[in-house]
Amino acid sequence: MNQQELDKLVFYNCGPSPMVHAAAKVQREFCRDDQIFSAIDYLTKCGVGICGACASPDGKRICVDGPFMQGTPERPVKL
Ligand code: FES
Repeated sequence: MNQQELDKLVFYNCGPSPMVHAAAKVQREFCRDDQIFSAIDYLTKCGVGICGACASPDGKRICVDGPFMQGTPERPVKL
């Protein structure tokens, strides 16, 4: 792929944390963090942003802030 094609890539990851992080590590070899969207399967309980059970390491709640976020919880992309 040439650079123009690489700039158009977008990756969507969805699944358990180890899988999403492993996939993002490989994807970063080909694109920027803002081209990676990840949804990690955290346990959800209330589903409306009250209990915090689904909070990612950066404090975002998957049930109301997600499910897809740019980058990964360790390397979130600020919009
Ligand atoms: S499930 Fe309760 S805050 Fe997300």
